[in-house]
Amino acid sequence: MTHDHDDSGQAEILDLDAEVLAEHIASITAGLPLTSAPRQIVDLGCGTGAGTFALLDRFPDAHVTAVDAAAGHLRILREKACARGLQDRVHPVQADLDDADWPDLGTPDLVWASASMHHLARPERALGNVHALLTPGGLFAVVELDGFPRFLPADAPETSPGLEERAHAATDHFHAEHVPHRGADWGPLLTAAGFTVEEKRTITVAIEGTRNEAIARYAHSSLQRIRSVAAPALSPRDLAALDELLDPNSPQSILHRTDLTVRTERTVWAARRP
Ligand SMILES: C[S@@+](CC[C@H](N)C(=O)[O-])C[C@H]1O[C@@H](n2cnc3c(N)ncnc32)[C@H](O)[C@@H]1O
Repeated sequence: MTHDHDDSGQAEILDLDAEVLAEHIASITAGLPLTSAPRQIVDLGCGTGAGTFALLDRFPDAHVTAVDAAAGHLRILREKACARGLQDRVHPVQADLDDADWPDLGTPDLVWASASMHHLARPERALGNVHALLTPGGLFAVVELDGFPRFLPADAPETSPGLEERAHAATDHFHAEHVPHRGADWGPLLTAAGFTVEEKRTITVAIEGTRNEAIARYAHSSLQRIRSVAAPALSPRDLAALDELLDPNSPQSILHRTDLTVRTERTVWAARRP
């Protein structure tokens, strides 16, 4: 529904998210209730490959079919695969997962979907497709987040304390309209599609960002993206403070702050096809 084809702003955020949260993504792949190491994996809504490469690292004998609607994301993923010498283990496929019929994605024993299911207009139908795709006994891992991470202390910035929360709140209306499945409880939906939900686990992430350049860039890119939706609903004072944070040349720029923390949550549902 809201997939952006060739969205370079999103690609940058996805890459920074993968870099900053690498350890947490690795712990999610390590904790999956698998009965044996998967050989054929499908990564649905793979973006620029955060999950794809974490899965290839974790399961050295596996191949990953990486599916996304955005050609630009797939191009970046393909370039990364080549740079890492993994091109023979990755098969990128461009497809719209909201289509009723999916291209041939093989018969995976693990399907992974991270921060992608909530983008779909018809997630129930997609869940049915995943169920049909998976080999019996195979696992579907749905990883979702409540919203964008937070970075600033509550009393920042000095001219407009609490700005970050207000900026996020100003995007609620947009998300309710355009991404209504964000924050959904996927357990009942997975059960209704015929899966047995074996685990639901929430991982709380809090990474200190002192002198971490990737975290500062991640915070900057995220706030930049939020600004585009939030701006009309913000007060002039908040908007001016936000623009100072986003201005790389301002002494108030978020890029120069040393008090950032990445605060987010990831919830994992591990669902088996009986
Ligand atoms: C928030 S990103 C997550 C990317 C990646 N899974 C990760 O964890 O970094 C959501 C991804 O879903 C893709 N997407 C959204 N709607 C889609 C659809 N209908 N069909 C295929 N991909 C879609 C977007 O292009 C984007 O790459």
